[in-house]
Amino acid sequence: MEDHAKTNTLLENADALARSRLSQKRYGHTLRVAATAGDLARVHGLDEDRIRLAALLHDAAREIRPGEFLRLADEWDLPIGEPERQSPKLLHGPVAAELARRELGVDDGEVLEAVRAHTTGKSLMGPLALALYVADKIEPARAYPSVERLRALAREDLHAAAAESLRRAIDHNEQRGRPIHPASRETLEWLEADHTAQGRVEQ
Ligand SMILES: [Fe+2]
Ligand SMILES: [Fe+2]
Repeated sequence: MEDHAKTNTLLENADALARSRLSQKRYGHTLRVAATAGDLARVHGLDEDRIRLAALLHDAAREIRPGEFLRLADEWDLPIGEPERQSPKLLHGPVAAELARRELGVDDGEVLEAVRAHTTGKSLMGPLALALYVADKIEPARAYPSVERLRALAREDLHAAAAESLRRAIDHNEQRGRPIHPASRETLEWLEADHTAQGRVEQ
């Protein structure tokens, strides 16, 4: 009972944090990702509340200014690599996770991991993080040629959907001559190897 009340409070606070920090448009995206992630949780037998919490938080730091990202990351001792120096908005996941920990007291390691890893992916990411990564790419307002296939795949196999989505993101950036974050390549390699070895995501 107490746990349930605590979860509801966290969900409400995460929603309020996102609403207060984001434009209408991005808050709308956040709610759609939360609904999509909730659906994926039901399909794959994951904890719906925890994934909704991660989804509500995932982009909460997205509208922070570039200089402020670097300042906060520095102040909070978050890892800053060359890609993050070049494009500080890559820090919006790690900064959102840290905000959630500091301001809302979120201490669920898998929820924080999902928030942290949602932009580039991370090898060995757990099912919650995989589901959030995929939900972010297939929420109902996303429109690109392969999105319907990805939506269907996400209900079948989260590993395969995340791998497909990463391949797409990497191709997209390569075609535009943009750098590929090393974590994205590592995640894809891990997913491809892991997927052949294990077949499916473990619950
Ligand atoms: Fe994001
Ligand atoms: Fe997002």
